[in-house]
Amino acid sequence: MVFLITGAAGFIGGNYCHIMTKKYPNDMFIGFDALTYAGNIKTLAPVMERDNFRFVKGDIYSKEDVKEVFDNYKIDIVINFAAESHVDRSLDNPLLFVKTNVDGVALLLSEALQRGVKRFHQVSTDEVYGDLPLNRPDLLFNEDCPLKASSPYSASKASADLIVMSYYRSFNAPVTISRCSNNYGPYQFPEKLIPLMIKNARSGKKLPVYGDGLNVRDWLYVADHCTAIDTIVRNSENGKIYNIGGNSEKNNITIVKTILNILGKGEDLIEFVADRKGHDRRYAIDASKIKSELGWEREYKFDDAIKATVEWYVKNDKWLSEIESGEYLRFMRSHYGE
Ligand code: NAD
Ligand code: DAU
Repeated sequence: MVFLITGAAGFIGGNYCHIMTKKYPNDMFIGFDALTYAGNIKTLAPVMERDNFRFVKGDIYSKEDVKEVFDNYKIDIVINFAAESHVDRSLDNPLLFVKTNVDGVALLLSEALQRGVKRFHQVSTDEVYGDLPLNRPDLLFNEDCPLKASSPYSASKASADLIVMSYYRSFNAPVTISRCSNNYGPYQFPEKLIPLMIKNARSGKKLPVYGDGLNVRDWLYVADHCTAIDTIVRNSENGKIYNIGGNSEKNNITIVKTILNILGKGEDLIEFVADRKGHDRRYAIDASKIKSELGWEREYKFDDAIKATVEWYVKNDKWLSEIESGEYLRFMRSHYGE
């Protein structure tokens, strides 16, 4: 089978290509990515030379780019990881998020279905459900929860989900959606909490914690997200939505202290800063549907995988420093100040 992996040069798409090109030597993987500030071709270095991988630079919002990749390859399955993915950036430039995450997805979906793909899988997020209160630990997001997005990022992802599901209802299209919680692991862009805190702590910079630091996320190691998507794409019926989660809720201050502890740095580096606008309080995933229907469960435990993650960033300093392009520095300065 031939897979089109959009957003392949990003964090999760890149990890997906590393894992799946090895696991399925008889399948072909076409990595497709616009190489925005978040896409890094070096992330794909481990797969570039593999016989079952090709890279195509292209934009899901460009009709020409999308048509060309379908002309050049007989694609069976599309997995759409491509997105603007950072909540803070969506507060600065909401329209870019609508362009890529809504219009881009609609264009890619429509072309894929005209070309007769066997499956279009949309990589969505738990953020489409809004947030949960801290004082109700019994509440979890399940797939029937209403969409109640808070940020332009999550609203754009929810919109894409609605478009994808409308193609199923109206045209019986072969689509699936997954909604995962926060990922961590190698190759994550250092604007997100975990790699940013590792990077700052190592260079003795302050660790900016938003608000009171008590916001909760449900952390999942990236390889587990990848195997869950693979399980859905290969085994699910059409028109299904699956939550993916690690059952590993932690508040931000715990995450930050854990990183400082692994690196042997002091907590005096922590600095509480102004809160994110519209900051979601708590995410927590009920992943029982994917377990009972498809048999997927997470493999990696947080305590081990976070240590391995910190060690990866320490060993891969070069990857991290190469990412610090002009655009990265511009955003960091405008968002966090000098
Ligand atoms: P990322 O920002 O690291 O990577 C996104 C990739 O998409 C980049 O390589 C970028 O160049 C590419 N891209 C952006 N716009 C494009 C366009 N118009 N055409 C082609 N490529 C484009 O993001 P990520 O963290 O790897 O997230 C991947 C997907 O998973 C996203 O759809 C995101 O919403 C979803 N998701 C992420 C998480 C998480 O914790 N990171 C959790 C759940 C879901
Ligand atoms: O839940 C899935 C989502 O997880 C994905 O859909 C998004 O693409 C991904 O970016 C992530 O969104 P979050 O907003 O939860 O991740 P982020 O790493 O930006 O922030 C995690 C938490 O840490 C959040 O409560 C905000 C806080 N934070 C973040 C940064 C960057 C800080 O306190 N300080 C910071 O500097």
